[in-house]
Amino acid sequence: METGTTSFCINLCLLLALCFATKWLCLKKRKTPPLPPGLMGYPIVGCFPEMMKNKPTFRWVQQLMQEMNTEIACIRLGNTHVIFVTSPQLARELLRKQDVIFASRADVLSARLASNGYLTAIFSPNCDQWKKMRRVIASGVLSPTMHQWLHNKRSKEVDHLVKYVFKQSLTNGLVNVRVAAQHYCGNMTRKLIFNKRFFGTGMEDGDPGMEEEDHLHGVFTILKYVYGFGIGDYLPWLEVFDLDGHKRIIKDALKKVRKYQDPEIDQRVEMWQQGMKKIQEDILDVFINLKDSNNNSLLSIEEIKAEITEFMLATIDNPSNAVEWALAEMINQPDILDRACKELDQVVGKDRLVDESDLPMLNYVKVCAKEAFRLHPVAAFNVPHVSIKDTTVGGYFIPKDSHVLLSRRGLGRNSRVWKDPLIYKPERHIINKDSKVLLVDHELRMLSFSTGRRGCPGIVLGSTMTIMLLARLIQGFSWTAPPNGPSNIDLVESDGGLLMAKPLVAHAVARLEPNVYLKLMQ
Ligand code: HEM
Ligand SMILES: *[C@@H]1O[C@H](CO)[C@@H](O)[C@H](O)[C@H]1NC(C)=O
Ligand SMILES: *[C@@H]1O[C@H](CO)[C@@H](O)[C@H](O)[C@H]1NC(C)=O
Repeated sequence: METGTTSFCINLCLLLALCFATKWLCLKKRKTPPLPPGLMGYPIVGCFPEMMKNKPTFRWVQQLMQEMNTEIACIRLGNTHVIFVTSPQLARELLRKQDVIFASRADVLSARLASNGYLTAIFSPNCDQWKKMRRVIASGVLSPTMHQWLHNKRSKEVDHLVKYVFKQSLTNGLVNVRVAAQHYCGNMTRKLIFNKRFFGTGMEDGDPGMEEEDHLHGVFTILKYVYGFGIGDYLPWLEVFDLDGHKRIIKDALKKVRKYQDPEIDQRVEMWQQGMKKIQEDILDVFINLKDSNNNSLLSIEEIKAEITEFMLATIDNPSNAVEWALAEMINQPDILDRACKELDQVVGKDRLVDESDLPMLNYVKVCAKEAFRLHPVAAFNVPHVSIKDTTVGGYFIPKDSHVLLSRRGLGRNSRVWKDPLIYKPERHIINKDSKVLLVDHELRMLSFSTGRRGCPGIVLGSTMTIMLLARLIQGFSWTAPPNGPSNIDLVESDGGLLMAKPLVAHAVARLEPNVYLKLMQ
């Protein structure tokens, strides 16, 4: 009896202890949730060696996430937790609900080089310099007033584009659309900043000069390697050896780009200092004349030079790539191309070229561009966001200093969100007939301009450049696949990236009143 009570007591105590223990364990578990599913790899290097064996990285990551059947993954590269996301719900949690926590950027070699030591807006971590430069860009050059002020320059460049294509339509009609689109964007950006479209001497009406091609080539090289999963980015202790050559490549490309820009900038600063210039005519003039609260120059020459380089990186690749893909897809689906032409004929007519003031009426042309951003983003991932403290997202632990990479491609092709995700179908973006179409999606079901405090401040300029480029090409010309070849354009991506494998070459025939083109040629 006596022993029975004692053993009962002991059992009870044990049971209670067990309960507490499990409860405690559960609580503790709830306090630190697990990392997202993924791969940790080896100590120090993480999965870097495996990544190196599986290029391009975005295809490797996509396959891993498909195998794991997950829309969030954590892959350790070097010592960094890199979080990949293809779910719009999680993307909104990151960039809307927890925006403040994820407002920093990766401190990596390629970004440090591209921004000349974080002097600029896109690449700078969450610091005063970022705030300053973002303000300069957003309110100094991208404000509605400035957009209006720069209208004349934009309209000169869209005219020049039509002239450029028209001349080719007169010879054999074959147009390399990639060259036209990239040079349009390059010319536009140079015009807005420097008030001239070429760096070389003269030949304003000839083919793109050697200098412009060189400059563009530099810009695209930097874009390819910045945040390019290089050794210097994830294994900084190996940086000096530059084993993958990224450091050298970025440095050379920067030198190439700045060889053309910097002398222009130095010269202009001097003109202002010597009183030879009194009227502001372009973005460079604006940068030079910004003042701080003590009436001193707000920007140093180094800041201006770095910011102008960044401007080039920000403006050229997205619009040109979207329009190249859009036109290729439309040539393969003539119904879509027809419908866009009909809209333009109805709104604009055939005796003048489409203008920016027509854009509010051109919803169908806009969804054609938007659909290209969904299906064919120029980059697989968004610019990395970095967490400034530990947090939990979707039930997973995200440690401080993680790099968060929203997958532009994964979001845009997420089959939970998009029906027939691989089919180019602009109609899907028309919600109702009267709603205004925007290229940005703040709900992050696709990622064009992103959203939140690190979201793109260039939505208006970027959208205008893109839509005007597409609208002018399809209004001005009838497009078909080149004669004497397959009747369809081959819509494959390049091995290493997301551009079309081969530049789009298509056949163009003028479709407006001859007068429209003749006026441009004068
Ligand atoms: C179609 C054209 C464009 C597209 C699709 C685009 C897209 C983007 C994206 C995806 C980001 C990263 C957002 C994030 O980190 O969440 C970004 C950032 C940025 N973009 Fe654009 N962009 C375009 C045009 C422009 C233009 C014309 C400018 C003008 C200078 C510009 C300036 C910037 C800047 C300064 C940032 C960095 C913002 C920050 O880190 O605070 N972009 N853009
Ligand atoms: C870009 O500018 C160069 C130099 O003026 C010119 O030759 C070329 O035709 C322009 N390209 C386009 C597409 O406007
Ligand atoms: C700022 O300096 C310029 C000359 O550098 C002068 O013309 C202007 O009046 C000054 N403005 C203020 C508010 O002091």
